[in-house]
Amino acid sequence: MIKISRCSFVRKARDDRLTDRAAVVGLGYVGIPLACCLAQSGVEVTGIDIDDSRVDAIRRGENPLKGEEPGLSELLREVVTKKLLAATKDYSCLGNVDAIFVCVDTPINRKKEPVYDNLLSAVKHVGRNMRKGVLVSIESTIAPATMKTKILKVLEKESGLKAGKDFYLAHCPERVMPGKLLYNLVNLDRIIGGFDEKSAEVAERWYARFVKGKLHKTDMTTAEVVKTVENAYRDVQIAFANEVGLICEVLGLDAFEVRRLVNTSPYRDMHLPGAGVGGHCLPKDPWLLVYGGRKSHPSLMPTARAINDRMPVHMVELVSEAFREAGLRMSKGKIVTILGYSFLENSGDTRNSPAKVIVRLLSDKVTLRIHDPYVLDTENLGITKDLEAALRDSDCAVLVTKHRAYSEFGLGRMASLMRHRILVDGRNAFDKSEAIKLGFVYRGIGKG
Ligand SMILES: NC(=O)c1ccc[n+]([C@@H]2O[C@H](COP(=O)([O-])OP(=O)(O)OC[C@H]3O[C@@H](n4cnc5c(N)ncnc54)[C@H](O)[C@@H]3O)[C@@H](O)[C@H]2O)c1
Repeated sequence: MIKISRCSFVRKARDDRLTDRAAVVGLGYVGIPLACCLAQSGVEVTGIDIDDSRVDAIRRGENPLKGEEPGLSELLREVVTKKLLAATKDYSCLGNVDAIFVCVDTPINRKKEPVYDNLLSAVKHVGRNMRKGVLVSIESTIAPATMKTKILKVLEKESGLKAGKDFYLAHCPERVMPGKLLYNLVNLDRIIGGFDEKSAEVAERWYARFVKGKLHKTDMTTAEVVKTVENAYRDVQIAFANEVGLICEVLGLDAFEVRRLVNTSPYRDMHLPGAGVGGHCLPKDPWLLVYGGRKSHPSLMPTARAINDRMPVHMVELVSEAFREAGLRMSKGKIVTILGYSFLENSGDTRNSPAKVIVRLLSDKVTLRIHDPYVLDTENLGITKDLEAALRDSDCAVLVTKHRAYSEFGLGRMASLMRHRILVDGRNAFDKSEAIKLGFVYRGIGKG
């Protein structure tokens, strides 16, 4: 039997096809669920990525994303089996699709400025391969004005086509979150920023295939600002909670009880203090907003970022304090067990995880063991999934990520395994008084 690749299949069937076709460029946390939902709605989807392992996994019908993602692995297997989703590294398929969704990563550099190498490379390929009449929707998070000053220009230059006349262009930023990828994609409202009204309408029709939430049409720059503001707002609120947490620690108070009581007042929604903010988005998106609005010299968001970035450093200060109180010296002879390496509970996503900073700062002071039930040990750090082994004869447990596994395991079992009982709780995962009753020297973020 001759094997027909999706590309040649698409070319062959171009004129007598009955179904719509779409391409999703960038098969990560955003692109995979999007490709699956489009395919589930009956669209023939080709996913494009430069990463062999992601393309190969999807071809096998396997979900390359780790962590708990309800329904995603099953849906991916189903749409690949039904031949509604294929994956490739070859951009030439773009010439035969009706809509192209760009979902590549958009990191920042050390100077906190956007790095668009991946995005612009993807957009160049899109421009070179797309045909007239196609919708190009950029889902990646970008700094305000990037659509107009970069994406539009590259697409028009590479394609020789004019936006609004020859093709439709929109910025439809994603609101997914690891652990809730499918749920958020389908159920949350969506902002559709069109190059013009017609582009917004065309994009709206595509998203209406699988989004149950409301679709709000606007212009591209407003959509860019809305997305970055959403995350910057959250980051500032977390920084506020962290600052309250630090104040409560020096006042000998419990910031979580303070928060509970504050939130009994109407229109207050104080966030939770914690060991730090991670993930691909929250530590980055405020800087994209600041970059886009740099002429106004923003200062609150950079300050919030500094507070949140310092929380893992403060965790290490709490470890030192707890060792001192226990009458122990931090040395290579002492074992510290890091509980959780991903940035988010019950997820395997380690991007910008506060645990990385904590591990880096502690690694030359003590012997570290790292436990995480979801993270693959791709950096050869010796991350184990065996919680008992990680805690046996350990001198100190440092909880960074509130994985369900830790509360299920319980403090009593932890206490019975450890050589010394020191607990630093970065997420209010355990009850302080129970820990003290069990003989732990206890420190916690926001716990005075
Ligand atoms: N992760 C989230 O929860 C989330 C939520 C909302 C928005 N976003 C935004 O969505 C975008 C994508 O985020 P993500 O988390 O999916 O990133 P990711 O790193 O998981 O996935 C990006 C994918 O793009 C691929 N890629 C890079 N350059 C490419 C190119 N030139 N051609 C084809 N593929 C290429 C990478 O190999 C990778 O598989 C970012 O802008 C991010 O800020 C992410």
